[in-house]
Amino acid sequence: MVGSSRHQASALPAGLPPRLLAWRVLQAVQGGAYADIALERLLGPSGLAAADRGLATELAYGCVRQQRLLQAWIDALGRRSAADQPPKLRSVLELGLYQLLFCQRVPAAAAVHTSVTLAQQLGLGRLAPVVNGMLRELLRRRADARAQRSGGDAAGADQGGQASEGPTTLEPWTGLDLPADPAASLGLRHSLPAWLAEELLRWRPLEQAEAFGRAANAAAPIDLRVNPLRSSREQLLAELEAAGVRAEPLPELAEGLTLSDAPGNLRQLPGYAEGRWCVQDRHAQAIVPLLDPRPGQRVLDACAAPGGKATQIAALLQGSGEVWAVDRSAARLRRVAANAERLGVSEILRPLEADATALASLRPAWRGHFDRILLDVPCSGLGTLARHADARWRIDPDRIAELVLLQSQLLEGVAPLLAPGGCLVYATCTVEPRENGERIAAFLNGRPDWRLRLERQWWPGHGGGDGFYAAVIDAPASGEGRGR
Ligand SMILES: C[S@@+](CC[C@H](N)C(=O)[O-])C[C@H]1O[C@@H](n2cnc3c(N)ncnc32)[C@H](O)[C@@H]1O
Repeated sequence: MVGSSRHQASALPAGLPPRLLAWRVLQAVQGGAYADIALERLLGPSGLAAADRGLATELAYGCVRQQRLLQAWIDALGRRSAADQPPKLRSVLELGLYQLLFCQRVPAAAAVHTSVTLAQQLGLGRLAPVVNGMLRELLRRRADARAQRSGGDAAGADQGGQASEGPTTLEPWTGLDLPADPAASLGLRHSLPAWLAEELLRWRPLEQAEAFGRAANAAAPIDLRVNPLRSSREQLLAELEAAGVRAEPLPELAEGLTLSDAPGNLRQLPGYAEGRWCVQDRHAQAIVPLLDPRPGQRVLDACAAPGGKATQIAALLQGSGEVWAVDRSAARLRRVAANAERLGVSEILRPLEADATALASLRPAWRGHFDRILLDVPCSGLGTLARHADARWRIDPDRIAELVLLQSQLLEGVAPLLAPGGCLVYATCTVEPRENGERIAAFLNGRPDWRLRLERQWWPGHGGGDGFYAAVIDAPASGEGRGR
């Protein structure tokens, strides 16, 4: 049996180290850890080769993301429901099922065999036949479904579960009895929490809610933003090509490009250390152009860390003007300073640790001071589920209600700082209307002199990239209407 401390990868049967590592991540997440932090902590000292690190990452994140669907399969295949399975065994089953349903490159026999071996290594040898039986039953059901679909006979295709399940044209839920209720079915198929599936069907027609679900489980693109102070898009594309990295320009963004393959460590790509580019999602890149900062202006980024948009603003000021990058988190603010340094904008970008809801009283001289204010608020992040495996399980309506309150306080807190005729851009990376259009409507209610110039919602699943929301608001030209 493997110990609970660090294991020696070489002492384990073939194929086991990445699966054992992923299993440990799942156990940590069950205990309340963040998936990315647990993975990083375990991968660091693991000694795994690059391919095994990739597999461990895919299995850990995939199982976390697909938890609801995988547990529905356990409910359907086992004598006990997923909730009643011993937690250690449940994670073994999730890993095995995930490989059979989602991992094209893992042969079915290898997925079953390594899952049984993993159970044995974890001291669950008595339950290894359960693992073997359930995984083979999944293969039988999927073979039946495939045969039914092609009008053939499944019986001969897979008597012992040995046929290659292969990743298939089947959906990962094919073979499960789906609930008749549209929200319950949507949530189960795309492994979304029940409350979110219900909300999605209130916000969007079914087809678009389906697109949201698919996008939440698809690989997120890796987009870069060129730093115009240090390079150009053409130059960077040529440099990347010379390094064997395929990339394409993003048509709607002057400085955006997207990587066609996912190289391992992005920081080792040409130009990173020299500040010629940074990683930034395509829709995140589209927010600052709405703010339209010009050289010489005074700009406040009131929720600035880690600095993706603050450094973009500073580059557009071309060394003239000021950008105050405020954030409540000292640790996150250190990343703003490091990014500003690397991208060559630290001369005009000033990090400040402060609560932006209280800036008007903390800095009275800032009343009516800023030509532009960006308010990129903390939000539910429902537009970025593809990037954060466990985010969907961490957010719920109670937390959203807290965020809505904070967002209102932030809007009210920064409004008095805007100069007459200045422009405020409010942004989120969510699709929840209470955090977006409803927040802005509430803010404008009673401010008849303020004008909503533009409002835009980017949905995940449309044109790639994350889901974002932005509202562009103009303050009245006289000082009359500022604040309340
Ligand atoms: C969505 S992130 C900002 C991302 C950033 N604009 C970028 O593009 O890199 C929201 C930030 O708001 C900060 N925050 C939360 N509450 C705050 C408050 N009351 N005052 C200032 N910052 C706050 C969080 O620490 C977090 O860094």
